[in-house]
Amino acid sequence: MNFPFDDDALREMELWPFFEMRRQTVLHASSRVDSPAKQEGNTVPRQFAVPARADTRPASPRGAAPVDSQALAPADPDRIARIANLDWDGLNAAAAACQACLLCKQRKQAVFGVGAPSAPWLFVGEGPGAEEDDLGEPFVGPAGKLLDAMLAAAGLQRGREVYIANVVKCRPPGNRNPSADEAQACAPFLDRQIDLVQPKLIVALGKIALSRLTGSEGSMASMRGKLHEYRGIPVVATYHPAYLLRNLPDKLKAWEDLMFAKRAFVAAAG
Ligand code: URA
Repeated sequence: MNFPFDDDALREMELWPFFEMRRQTVLHASSRVDSPAKQEGNTVPRQFAVPARADTRPASPRGAAPVDSQALAPADPDRIARIANLDWDGLNAAAAACQACLLCKQRKQAVFGVGAPSAPWLFVGEGPGAEEDDLGEPFVGPAGKLLDAMLAAAGLQRGREVYIANVVKCRPPGNRNPSADEAQACAPFLDRQIDLVQPKLIVALGKIALSRLTGSEGSMASMRGKLHEYRGIPVVATYHPAYLLRNLPDKLKAWEDLMFAKRAFVAAAG
């Protein structure tokens, strides 16, 4: 695989100016260890080396609840089993009609997911925002534009080899984080999407998706560059595109994560 210094890909992620700065820094201070160049060369930082087998982490429920977390009925095993047996059409219809948590009260529509039904890549975000609630498709607002650029930088494309889904299918009011209870209520839908798509690799976009898939509340810094696993599928973590829009220099780290994901994908698909 040949990714480093792919100018077009770097431009896709609007990484070019930062990358130029970084490249100059590397030239003038050759001791840096975290440049994409070194990552792709013989000196791959240990954190970014793809192990032969994925680390398996025990799943545990997400802890932190957001400001206006709502009480929720306890998990209903019959509902979970019923959703686990639905086909794509049934699943879509069940999500559209779902009232398992209070997010249904303010949604315009449930935002189910988009992409090839057996895409080898699955990207998981948090939950729909205003544009997604309007249009019924994940990641169509500003964060979605950056996600598309990230996909393009990795040689991927929405609707081709990629499926995009969210932890929760209904918009959390005010774009707050979904609560642990809401993520739990929506879990059967995401789990069934994963089982139907059977991706070779899952990319968790941001901490909400990461904690939903790994059960860990670890920081993004401690979780990225490692292989996790969910339902037998390798999971890698990167920053949420909305975070990257506010923290532009971290796009370089997202670029590293995508290169790590490409290597993990090759290893998993191999
Ligand atoms: N942010 C997300 O996490 N998902 C979307 O669909 C849109 C923005």
